[in-house]
Amino acid sequence: MASMSQVAASQHMYATRAGKYDDSWHPQYAKRFVRIVNPHPGQRILDLCCGTGLELFLLAEAFNDDSKANDDGVVVGVDATAEMLAVAAERQRARPELADRVKLLRHDVTHLETLRTTDALAPLEKHSFDTIVCSNAFVLFDDPDAVVASWRRYLKRPVYTAATHNPNDSHEGHESHRGIHHHEPGGKLVVDIPHEAAQRGGLIMERVARRMGLVFPSNRSWVTSVNSFRDVLERNGYHVDRVIELDHISGQGATYCTAYHVDELYDSLTKSSAFATMVAGAGPGVEMATVERRGRSIFHEEFLKDAGKDGRVFMSDTMYVYVARLAS
Ligand SMILES: C[S@@+](CC[C@H](N)C(=O)[O-])C[C@H]1O[C@@H](n2cnc3c(N)ncnc32)[C@H](O)[C@@H]1O
Repeated sequence: MASMSQVAASQHMYATRAGKYDDSWHPQYAKRFVRIVNPHPGQRILDLCCGTGLELFLLAEAFNDDSKANDDGVVVGVDATAEMLAVAAERQRARPELADRVKLLRHDVTHLETLRTTDALAPLEKHSFDTIVCSNAFVLFDDPDAVVASWRRYLKRPVYTAATHNPNDSHEGHESHRGIHHHEPGGKLVVDIPHEAAQRGGLIMERVARRMGLVFPSNRSWVTSVNSFRDVLERNGYHVDRVIELDHISGQGATYCTAYHVDELYDSLTKSSAFATMVAGAGPGVEMATVERRGRSIFHEEFLKDAGKDGRVFMSDTMYVYVARLAS
């Protein structure tokens, strides 16, 4: 943000949302997301931007099979907002059987390298995680490329072993030099990104903020299609195994907003913690009512840029979930 870093803006936004964050579509969505992650007992999982711990505890539950009681499965959750982590810590107290499997850390996930050894929990070991997940958060970051590049160092590396036939064991002489390659794929990264037309009000507000010289606390302008994040991953050394499109994420389904409802949409957005953060980022002395008044006509203009010939704007309710691995 102009006068607030990305992490400060997120802290501002989620500090006020923490208490009611779970009264939303997020708990249901977390179940669908974790099914795609498909955790196994004994794994080490890093949950970046774990928030109130919705995915964290579902992931930990997957290890909590009595027969594996002594395995070393662990889920490390990292988040920057104390209020969100406080809700996760409450969950941890309420689930003593999972408490040992869950570690919570407060830190900026775009700068994990600055986690100090003196921190209460051991720093994240390099190349030690089977899975890294980041749900409902990636489009908050300023620099998507730098972030996925920085996370590479925490994923287990793929292992290639090559053994060569002993020529004497081969009936066919020409096969004797052929290598037998064994490949373990290494750790995986699972990240979700909203469809380019999802949560569209916020997307339009991002442009309004830019025109007003302010910054909305999300960065979705780089997402123009399902390939946008795939491209980010591929140019930073990941191989994308699959992309799953989850529909009806908020339960609402795809819909259209007509020009008659623009004010309604705008009014609902100005009540959000994201809008309050956008105003706070403008600096002291800037009144919410002033920003609201100036922003309304710009919002109308930006809405019309997205509208089809029939004056309607398409609103998707889809999330793209990417499952990727280190390419080498
Ligand atoms: C929408 S919540 C998602 C929480 C959880 N993953 C879920 O799906 O319910 C976004 C979270 O990202 C965290 N966050 C945003 N930027 C961050 C950063 N740079 N470092 C650490 N946490 C961050 C916020 O504190 C917030 O808890």
